[in-house]
Amino acid sequence: MHKDIESILVCEKEIENIVNSIAKQIEKDYNFKEFIMIGLLKGSMTFMADLMRKIHLDFPVDFIIASSYSGTQSTGKIQITKDIDSDISGKDILIVEDIIDTGRTLEYIKNHLINKKAKTVKICTLFDKPYRRRSSIVPDYTGMKIPDEFIVGYGLDYNELYRNLPYVGILSPSVYT
Ligand code: IMP
Ligand code: MG
Repeated sequence: MHKDIESILVCEKEIENIVNSIAKQIEKDYNFKEFIMIGLLKGSMTFMADLMRKIHLDFPVDFIIASSYSGTQSTGKIQITKDIDSDISGKDILIVEDIIDTGRTLEYIKNHLINKKAKTVKICTLFDKPYRRRSSIVPDYTGMKIPDEFIVGYGLDYNELYRNLPYVGILSPSVYT
């Protein structure tokens, strides 16, 4: 285990099981239905790479880079630094996100895609911290609800580090206090 990790919250095998189960649900719901998968970078990169390979349907992918975090706190100010390239008007969209905390990022992104005339916008998140919600966002697919701890690994970072850990762990508070 990495020295900055207090404990492992979700091991590699558990992550694999969660991803497989979400992929099955999506496959069932979107069978015979066109959709575009849009990942929120950078956090969702690992999850999306695994998830998309488990969904045996034909669909395009696109990406948005948005940020609202500085250290372990959401700033509440969301900025899109890279937008999608595709025309999504009249299309069904599935957003893939690593974690929902206050929900402000996804609320902003969802409105952004609705303004671009998406027909429907659904949300798939690997993790959900429902306790600190500051928006009415409810994910359509959730991998796992987690306690109010700062987690890293499997794409999730603290100041751009730990994204490459293959498991999800609770970051030792000594790293950020
Ligand atoms: P929200 O706008 O407060 O819902 O923030 C969501 C974003 O904050 C996620 O996309 C993550 O990038 C980041 N985030 C929230 N909680 C954590 C965490 O525990 N670890 C790493 N990143 C997190
Ligand atoms: Mg994120």
